[in-house]
Amino acid sequence: MHDLRVSVTDRCNFRCTYCMPRDVYGRDYAFMPRAELLTFEEITRLARLFAELGVRKVRLTGGEPLLRRDLPVLVRMLADLPAIEDLTLTTNGSLLSRHAAALADAGLDRVSVSLDSLDDATFGRMNDVGFPVAAVLDGITAAERAGLRPIKINMVVRRGINEHSVLPMARHFRERGHILRLIEYMDVGHTNGWRLDDVVPASEIVARIDAVMPLVEVAPQYPGEVANRWAYRDAGGEVGVIASVTQPFCGDCTRARLTADGQLYTCLFASTGHDLRETLRGGATDDELSATIAAVWRAREDRYSELRSLATRQLPVIDVDPNRVEMSRIGG
Ligand SMILES: C[S@@+](CC[C@H](N)C(=O)[O-])C[C@H]1O[C@@H](n2cnc3c(N)ncnc32)[C@H](O)[C@@H]1O
Ligand code: SF4
Repeated sequence: MHDLRVSVTDRCNFRCTYCMPRDVYGRDYAFMPRAELLTFEEITRLARLFAELGVRKVRLTGGEPLLRRDLPVLVRMLADLPAIEDLTLTTNGSLLSRHAAALADAGLDRVSVSLDSLDDATFGRMNDVGFPVAAVLDGITAAERAGLRPIKINMVVRRGINEHSVLPMARHFRERGHILRLIEYMDVGHTNGWRLDDVVPASEIVARIDAVMPLVEVAPQYPGEVANRWAYRDAGGEVGVIASVTQPFCGDCTRARLTADGQLYTCLFASTGHDLRETLRGGATDDELSATIAAVWRAREDRYSELRSLATRQLPVIDVDPNRVEMSRIGG
């Protein structure tokens, strides 16, 4: 266990069609009540215990994490934990220009910003609230100024929807020295109506970039790194591809995931989590909590992506569990 991803809210101001489709996450959708969210003190206590068990990297996510009020206060509390070497945040960037400086002051090391296209029509269709590209780019600039580097840009590639944006995105972010990470569209949760046909395989994405801007593969920086890294041959910079559908990497996964209401998940594709909030609020000691976390981790045998891979070779089979956790709860 090396990485902890903490979702701080299940709410979001976007309705990305691949994550929070509007017909499911409409006006009547019941988001988590406030009292059910872990407090900053509870999150920090858990993070400290996770760190004692080996975690060195914490990523704040959501929903949209910048919707959680006073997030820099939590960042400061986590930054004060000496064992955490890398404190980062994944955001849709919509509120980043407002908060980048305060986050950096509080001790955030860097950010990953999600952006699926540079053209407003495509991006607006994907975020499904018509949010403009320029405002996300402003957020990225603010993060850059605040020193939240290296900046990674996450782009989910969907067949027929934004595949034409791959090259313009690669060019744009190479010129600015940011690392574009192209993510295969995944079948997280059960609401996004995922089909294998919608996935653009990472190998195809790499080939498309390589044909115009030649690439060379780079070794991973550490075991369990999710992205395959490719450097541009003729200039600086690199891109990453996250091939969790076509080249699953369950075997060296070091990631634990905590939802905003304190459920511990050991896999992005799991249906059930372990309720740490109940243990926490039931008055457990640090030792008891720590033993619970360790027991959950030791018992994990998740390898969903590998199993999907076996199943999808003989399409169409794969059964989706209707209880599977949604991306907006678990945070990616
Ligand atoms: C769930 S979001 C949470 C943080 C923040 N709202 C954001 O969008 O960056 C985390 C990441 O998951 C990615 N994501 C969401 N649904 C996905 C899917 N079905 N397949 C692949 N990536 C997905 C998003 O693009 C984003 O980069
Ligand atoms: S991917 Fe991020 S921005 Fe898009 S709906 Fe999901 S949580 Fe919101």
